[in-house]
Amino acid sequence: MTKRTYLIKGQIIFILIGLMSLPVRSNAQVQTLHWAKMSAGVWVAKAGHPESVNFTAVSGVKPKLDAINAMADVAFPLSENEIKTTVFDGKTYLQFPLEPGEQIFGLGLNFQTVGQRGRILRLHMDHYNGTDNGRNHAPVPFYASSKGYGVFINSARYLDIWVGTAVTRDSKVPMDSRDRNTDKSWTSQPYSDNISVLVPAEGVEIVVFGGPTTLDAVSRFNLYNGGGCLPPKWGLGFWHRTPTLYSDSLVLNEVKEFKKHQFPLSVIGLEPGWQSKSYPCTYEWDKGRFPNPEKFVSQLKDLGIQTNLWMNPYISPESELIKKLKPFTASFTVWSGYIPDYGLPEVNQIIGDHLKKHQLDIGISGFKMDENDGFDGWLWPDVARFPSGIPAEQMRQLYGLMMQKMTTQLYREQNKRTYGLVRASNAGGVSFPYVIYNDYYSHRDFITALINSSFIGVLWTPEVRSSPTAEEWLRRMQTVCFSPLAMLNAWSDGTKPWSFPEVEKQVADVAKLRMQLIPYIYTCFAEYAFYGRPPMRAMNLVDGFTTVSDKVEGKLSSTENPYAEATRKEMKDQFMVGDNLLVAPLFTGETERKVVLPEGKWFDFYTGKFAGEAAVISVTPGLDKIPVYVRDGGIIPMFEADGNSLKWGEKNNLIIRFYGAKEASYKLYDDDGETFDYEKGAFSWREISVIKGKDGKLKGAVSKTENSKPDNLGSVKFRFMSE
Ligand code: GAL
Repeated sequence: MTKRTYLIKGQIIFILIGLMSLPVRSNAQVQTLHWAKMSAGVWVAKAGHPESVNFTAVSGVKPKLDAINAMADVAFPLSENEIKTTVFDGKTYLQFPLEPGEQIFGLGLNFQTVGQRGRILRLHMDHYNGTDNGRNHAPVPFYASSKGYGVFINSARYLDIWVGTAVTRDSKVPMDSRDRNTDKSWTSQPYSDNISVLVPAEGVEIVVFGGPTTLDAVSRFNLYNGGGCLPPKWGLGFWHRTPTLYSDSLVLNEVKEFKKHQFPLSVIGLEPGWQSKSYPCTYEWDKGRFPNPEKFVSQLKDLGIQTNLWMNPYISPESELIKKLKPFTASFTVWSGYIPDYGLPEVNQIIGDHLKKHQLDIGISGFKMDENDGFDGWLWPDVARFPSGIPAEQMRQLYGLMMQKMTTQLYREQNKRTYGLVRASNAGGVSFPYVIYNDYYSHRDFITALINSSFIGVLWTPEVRSSPTAEEWLRRMQTVCFSPLAMLNAWSDGTKPWSFPEVEKQVADVAKLRMQLIPYIYTCFAEYAFYGRPPMRAMNLVDGFTTVSDKVEGKLSSTENPYAEATRKEMKDQFMVGDNLLVAPLFTGETERKVVLPEGKWFDFYTGKFAGEAAVISVTPGLDKIPVYVRDGGIIPMFEADGNSLKWGEKNNLIIRFYGAKEASYKLYDDDGETFDYEKGAFSWREISVIKGKDGKLKGAVSKTENSKPDNLGSVKFRFMSE
């Protein structure tokens, strides 16, 4: 080898070493996703290498493919080459297109905003603390667009999402730079063409849902996650939670008071004091307050009342459970209690066996699973280790879901439906029969949360606790009676429904109305279970709202074209119960409010009088009533009895209300109301139809049930409300 060759070789090595020590510019490749169609209007793609722990894997729930395939097939709703994916720096970068005028809904259980466009969120399980920043009780990574499609990012990590805030260099609508010095139209937020998501993992599964409507996209998402839950009928009655330290006799006395006040009651909830110790919990009955729990539960059952028990996840070292459970708990504690690792089968078995023996087998109908959401100050830190190997971050996102899964299965094994409460849920939990609640307690924001729950496959209750005035008390009672779970939670101060004597009658009236509406509400839930349509839902899921934004000519104004303006905005204070009822709550201090009535004629629920059509109306309902409207041809099946004399599982008489004049039909769902036999076909959808006879008068009819199908209908009377 010559001297020159050595020199050249030396130079090459030198250059190579130099190159290697330069900072790496970017080795990230934009990945083209392959969208596999899994059923009508549902496509799945994998970016990078998705983690095995995700929402659908952990919930273990299977998609309802038959129900999805029964929906109209649609084309892939986005332009594929505008979805960009890169795996870089141990993370997955995602970018989805966003059109001008498009609105985005969902992305967690928000309390103050409905439209999420323009927001930056970190989806992180937490107790809601007054800001819509992604930290809440159900940080579900699913969004639904006003353009009629939805996107689900199946990662149980803390996801950062920029919802139409940032502008790409290669935007379809190129950036138009304006001079801030002189141009008054300069804006700090120019049109953003994308939703960007940062997933802190080297891959993720993405699911896209087609429409054509936003409600269709949400329904497909719900069905993909197993369809909505169908609560037992008793779960839709009135609930009352008694003070923490109440004993069996105090609870039984309280129940007597309900009878005395002729106030309907379906479920009693016991708070921490049923346990011998709580915070941390023993999951064992307190022998002083409840010497004979079995007798107590059966006494309540004889009165037609179910019992629900409070618990939180953290197990006391003094609980019998700990002997077996300790090896399967996390490296940190909460309130000196052990944190069971529900990622392990052993934990599900040990706690499941205990709950079965001491609670389910003596007749407990369900649980309230508290404090599995967070508050960083007391929860485990993200460096906690769980023996299953599931990282603490994923545990935080999944814990409530895992508790729901375990308890749902316990009841399923007994062929009994349960209905309960939980403070943390997430994607994958659509079919679990749990309703979210919290300690935040803003009436107005509670309604916005109810609206938002309908975009993300969870249920929310605006539970009532206390109120400074009779007016607020009644207003809160009115809205809770139109929610998935009508409950007074008196755990702390022992309020009773009749705590404000000046509105006792009005509170009782709305609770009785709730009971009478159960056939209608139960059918709404069946539509949730069978077709994925949320029972209580946002106005932005109603046809004509937000989907027509490009059709308006001229400027939107609340005085010149109020209806056009209202239907293009987020709607935070009115909602639908099923297809036929529109509910517009009033808040303390209000005597008048505006209600936006969708297209088609709408009628006052109480009087049957015409209220408006594609209009913004002002109403002054008085304190007694929560404004409720029914669409033209709206059929509302109701129990004749007001709830005090209802017997579940027996034939009950119906009053079927009909509003407006348009001939219509409606499918009323029924089954035994308490078991899973409906999954094997033991249910009926009975057709109620209203047509005009030759004399021009409306006539109603109800179809018969097929032989051997459940038939709980006693006598049926029609009431034509608008005649
Ligand atoms: C809170 C919960 C309340 C009540 C209370 C009992 O965390 O939100 O509803 O159950 O605990 O200590």
